[in-house]
Amino acid sequence: MNFTNLLIDVADGVALVTINRPAALNALNIDVLNDLTAAFSSLQENAAVACVILTGSGTKAFVAGADIAAMQPLNAVEAAHFARLGHALMSLIESCPKPVIAAVNGFALGGGCELAMACDMRIAAENARFGQPEVNLGVIPGFGGTLRLSRLIGKGRAKELIFTGDMVSAQEAFRIGLANKVVAAEDLLAEAQSMAAKIAAKGPVAVRFAKEAIDSGLEMDLDRAGRFEADLFGLCFATEDQKEGMQAFLDKRQAKFTGR
Ligand code: CAA
Repeated sequence: MNFTNLLIDVADGVALVTINRPAALNALNIDVLNDLTAAFSSLQENAAVACVILTGSGTKAFVAGADIAAMQPLNAVEAAHFARLGHALMSLIESCPKPVIAAVNGFALGGGCELAMACDMRIAAENARFGQPEVNLGVIPGFGGTLRLSRLIGKGRAKELIFTGDMVSAQEAFRIGLANKVVAAEDLLAEAQSMAAKIAAKGPVAVRFAKEAIDSGLEMDLDRAGRFEADLFGLCFATEDQKEGMQAFLDKRQAKFTGR
């Protein structure tokens, strides 16, 4: 896979996707959105990939937002189209059958914060800054910020961040549940790789079902979510991995999962 704006490296079941536009702090223009859409469409079908890490190139930014220079001249129809492209990408990442870890290596603002929130987990470098500063530009979040930030950190805190446009530090993001953990900048990729390797060693069908149960279950009432979880639990018993996982426990050995 060769992309103008991305670097992709697949090793040991883990794909590292690096947004590579450091001169614009990895800002998302249509080309980057299209590259990311093509990359995730391909990675989700790639049997050699069990887990994906998404990061930004350079030391300053994960993604500093949607590309302001590209957006400035848009009319209403073009802007809605641009936002729909962004929404489609965020949904693609969110529904990716493999877990996606955002390794947030600096600014994650606007579309960058939205991209990080579409990932399953966020590991923040100490220098990371999160925010939805769109109101500073006379617009609102357009790639799902109003939806995902309120679901992740609650309505009151989401409104404060979106109405003020304030940035929060990595530590504050951790405190309010926006970041899963904070690590030294130089340890960020190793920490993400270590989490990804741990996940990649599990039964991939079980991990995929767990992701589906959590994401879909949150959108259902508890009764339906409970039945959905019970059905997916049952479906696990149709896999070789369930037999192997439980037999390995009984044999007091390490399980060897195959994804079947
Ligand atoms: N779009 C386009 N270019 C951007 C950009 C963006 N979102 N963010 C930074 N850049 C560019 C700058 O224009 C600059 O380019 P030049 O060197 O050619 O002038 C380069 O990246 C470096 O940026 P700065 O010189 O501004 O770096 P800094 O360290 O002084 O400031 C920053 C860093 C605080 C992140 C600042 O760049 C900034 O505020 N960026 C914009 C953040 C923002 O408003 N993001 C939201 C965008 S709207 C959005 O995302 C809508 C949506 O929901 C879909």
